[in-house]
Parts: sequence; C-alpha cells; structure tokens
Amino acid sequence: MLYLLDTANLDEIQKAQETFPLAGVTTNPTIVSHERREFFPLLRDIRACIGDRMLHAQVVGKTCAEMLKDAQALQEKVGGNLYIKVPVSPQGYMAMRELKKQGYKVTATAIYTPGQALLAANCGVDFTAPYINRIDNISGMGVNVVQMITTLFRLHSLPTKVLAASFKNIQQVNDVSLAGCQAITIGPDILWKLAEHPLTDMSIDQFDQDWEGVYGKGKRIYNL
Ligand code: G3P
Repeated sequence: MLYLLDTANLDEIQKAQETFPLAGVTTNPTIVSHERREFFPLLRDIRACIGDRMLHAQVVGKTCAEMLKDAQALQEKVGGNLYIKVPVSPQGYMAMRELKKQGYKVTATAIYTPGQALLAANCGVDFTAPYINRIDNISGMGVNVVQMITTLFRLHSLPTKVLAASFKNIQQVNDVSLAGCQAITIGPDILWKLAEHPLTDMSIDQFDQDWEGVYGKGKRIYNL
C-alpha cells in the first residue's frame, strides 16, 4: 500500500514523513489555495521537503491545450518525481492521452464511477483517483466503486493503479484497502488517526508501570 498525504501544508508534510512511510504528496487547486501562498514557490518547497517522493499536482486549464501548457509549466518549474493530475472531463481524457504520449506520469482525478476510471486507464494513465467520501455523500458506496475499478483493471489486464482519495474516516480507509486499491491519499488528521488507538496507549502505560516497579523509574534497557 502506498500512503500519500493530501495536503500542501509543509509542517504537516514534514511531521508526517518523519513518522510514517509516506510515498508522496497529492495536491489540487483547493488544497493549495488553503496555504495562501504563491503557487510555484509553494510547490517547490514541497518538492524540497519530500525529496524524490511522488508529488501529484493538478492542472487548472479547461481545454486540452491549456492542460498541456499547465503540465509543461509544472514539469519545468517543479519537476522531480511529478504526476500531472487531470480531471476526467472530455478535454481531460484528450490531455491524458497526449501527456502519456509525451512521457508524463499522469493521475486521472475527480473520479466518481468505474466507467470513468476504465476510460482513463485506457488513456494510459498511471493512477486513477476515485473520491470515496464524495461518492458516499451521494449514496454511491465509495468502497463498491473502488472494488469495481480494481476488478475491471484486473479483468482487462490494465497496469493502472487505484489511488483512492477523499476520506472522512478510518472505516472508509479500511474498506478501500480491503477492496484492493494500491494507494490512498489522506489528510494529516486521518493519517494520525489511522495510527492511533487508546488501548495501545493504555498498553504502553501498563508496560511502563510494570517495568518501573521493578527496574526503577526512567531506567532503560541500554543503561542497565
Ligand atoms: O485528493 C482529492 C481530495 O482532496 C478530495 O477530498 O476531502 O475535498 O473530498 P475532499
């Protein structure tokens, strides 16, 4: 499983990558707008922070020609291990095909149906990003959509991976992981919640108490 962080906040990225096995960072126009900074300096700071991990950055152009120009600017001004995110609009599919011809790595995004994912995969994209919570919000069963996409890709021998996105809780993360997606992108709040459990904290407290009762407070194995 590849874990990506769905944020453009440098402090959150730094903290998360120190702790967890992060494969990269995903952004979109909404996410970058939250940082209220110049776009390219922000993306270059993220690149510097994550090194050669994946950075998924989204085009904002409306036409295929504009999307290609956005992609070229991202490649030239940010570069590195970059994935160009393209929404699955008709112009987007056109852009995905052209970007793949030109050798870009591409993530098809804003996916709500298995049909959209299958079309994008046939454009040759590297990742497809279905929006789990937004699908759940329209009673579309995000987990079923992921299940259908992974099944379709397997049946049609397509190498495209599923990068599940848009999560509001841990149950959604567990469900799509079981449904066979290869990657998830989650906000920092969900990542930290995924790692924690109050019973884990209680267990660790009990270990400390028992150890200190016999070996002394603050004693460590390395200084016995
Ligand atoms: O990566 C896509 C994601 O940012 C959409 O998430 O939480 O706005 O539905 P959300």
